[in-house]
Amino acid sequence: MDGRMKEIGIGLLGFGTVGAGVVKGLQANGELVADRLGARPVLRKIADIDLERDRGVSVDPAVLCRDARAVVSDPSVDVVVELIGGTRVARELVLSALENRKPVVTANKALLAEHGPEVFKKAAESGVDLYFGASVGGGIPIIRALREGLIANRILSIRGILNGTSNYILTQMEEQHSSFERALGEAQQKGYAEADPSLDIDGVDTAHKAVILASLAYGFVVPMRSVHVEGVRNLSEMDIFNALALGYRIKLLAVVKEFGGDIEVRVHPALVPLDHVLASVSGVFNAVMVQGDLSGQTLYYGRGAGQDPTAGTVIADVADVVRNLVAGCPRRVPAVPLVRRGRRIRSMDEIQTRYYLRMSLLDRPGVLGQITSALGRHNVSIASVLQKEVRVGEYVPVVIVTHEAIEKDCDAALEEIQGMDLVGAKTVRLRIEE
Ligand code: HSE
Repeated sequence: MDGRMKEIGIGLLGFGTVGAGVVKGLQANGELVADRLGARPVLRKIADIDLERDRGVSVDPAVLCRDARAVVSDPSVDVVVELIGGTRVARELVLSALENRKPVVTANKALLAEHGPEVFKKAAESGVDLYFGASVGGGIPIIRALREGLIANRILSIRGILNGTSNYILTQMEEQHSSFERALGEAQQKGYAEADPSLDIDGVDTAHKAVILASLAYGFVVPMRSVHVEGVRNLSEMDIFNALALGYRIKLLAVVKEFGGDIEVRVHPALVPLDHVLASVSGVFNAVMVQGDLSGQTLYYGRGAGQDPTAGTVIADVADVVRNLVAGCPRRVPAVPLVRRGRRIRSMDEIQTRYYLRMSLLDRPGVLGQITSALGRHNVSIASVLQKEVRVGEYVPVVIVTHEAIEKDCDAALEEIQGMDLVGAKTVRLRIEE
């Protein structure tokens, strides 16, 4: 191709799984991308504290360095790609790059979810691009869809499987009868998990992503503290298989909904009917269903984690920044909606859904009657009951599926029930999303 093609210098911060993927991706497809853009992204610097480890990719030693700050201020670097992760060093470097009027591409969902207002403001003040496509959904262009393809829509709801590690664990537990620990170890080995895997299995990574999607949909950064977060860490095999017997599969879901002008943002495991499209999303795959008032339902599906898919999205962001630099139109697509409107975030007490309740009850006459009366007193109506003839000591597991109820009422009923001396271990309560 044209050797005189304009070159745009890229400075990469972080040479980990995704960073090495970006290097490999540019080596493999850089010319293809350059042909499509009419300009060539060129890796000028790569910073990491560990320069010894073999990443399975060869780079010119002259581009490698340990000093990320020097990369940010290097005049040959036009675009900063932040793939360090975490919220401390990454925040400082991203703010400093934006301050230096350098466009930033980042995959850092924690940074945006925890410090979004500060980072978005700095990008706007400096008048430069901030792209974060790989922060949600790995290889799926969901951010791009919300920022552009769905811009005409009022977003009614977003439901997503957004953590590849958790989904991989649930699939392995169901299909391979793997233990939770073994499945997590495999996810780590395959490069899906966060450096601190508790972010994956406690639902925090999904919550970060839910906050980013909600911010794009509703124009304000939902504070992390207002998001209800539960992960997959404490799910038991018994519930996975009970759910299947009842016609459901358990998935870790992010749910973002508009409700009478208010917003609901929550992350928790949920029973999804087996014929629901989200129930068929297995392994490391992610999927997001967006309900817009004009477009109706749209679905985005693909690999939610892993080196190559995530690198593909990072390079796509770099391509957008390169286009804008070449055309002289930075911020053609602003990072977040330009006019912010606050919304009330609904508390969990207010949500209305169906529930799966697994109780441990004494196997004696009249016990079920007392339980159903307590549920009824709190306006929780029963849809089905499943009692297994498997005793655990004096107790039998009883699974109750309810009709739609208000969470506050369900909590009150469970509190009353837990106080009864006919109840053993704490009741497992899971929500059902249809
Ligand atoms: N740890 C994340 C996941 C990586 O498992 O989905 C992608 O954000």
